[in-house]
Amino acid sequence: MNDAVPVIAIDGPTASGKGTVAQAVAARLGYHYLDSGALYRLVGLAAVRKGIDLQDAAGLAALAASLDVRFDGDRIILGGADASDAIRTEEAGQNASRVAAVPAVRAALLRRQQAFRQPPGLVADGRDMGSVIFPDAKPKFFLTASVEARAERRVNQLKQKGNSAILADVLKELTQRDERDMNRPVAPLKCLPDAYLIDTTELSAAQAVERILDCVAKIR
Ligand code: C5P
Repeated sequence: MNDAVPVIAIDGPTASGKGTVAQAVAARLGYHYLDSGALYRLVGLAAVRKGIDLQDAAGLAALAASLDVRFDGDRIILGGADASDAIRTEEAGQNASRVAAVPAVRAALLRRQQAFRQPPGLVADGRDMGSVIFPDAKPKFFLTASVEARAERRVNQLKQKGNSAILADVLKELTQRDERDMNRPVAPLKCLPDAYLIDTTELSAAQAVERILDCVAKIR
């Protein structure tokens, strides 16, 4: 029904700057924004809180299907309580990546993500936006950066939030999460043949946003 609504897909690995860049692109175009990673983080968080084992595929899928979540501006409300900060820890990221490898969880979240496709358009940020959730997205982008640059950015983000962070630990966690996301059998993270590759190692977020907007303007 919403197939006529334009979707811009921005996929890429952890800490590639996708979130910041995708939100800015959405704001510039006046489009909606989907942070699909937040949904996997919420499933992980809710599972830990309810004591559901992260290997229990059926339990996780049921949880994902019934997840009581509301996106309220930049706040994310889970079961009536603000979970915006709780889902942003490194542990929540690792748990998200574990539950995201369960096919039934991905299936349970499919329609919820597709429902974000509303006029006048959507910028969708994740790992499988261009491959599975919105295969007709145009254009598709793959945002990446060297693992060292991504680890440094993550350390800075954590420090800004008042958390302590050790570069070597963050680098290790990030590498583990990338491995899991790229090698899982279902919806693995990959750069699609029809995606524009943007390496942000040497680019600021603002420069990445301009590149994406230039590209969007050219193909439309
Ligand atoms: O993007 P973010 O780091 O918040 O995503 C957390 C985790 O959720 C990722 O490491 C990945 O395993 C999973 N994810 C996914 N598919 C998406 C978005 C996120 O598998 N579309």
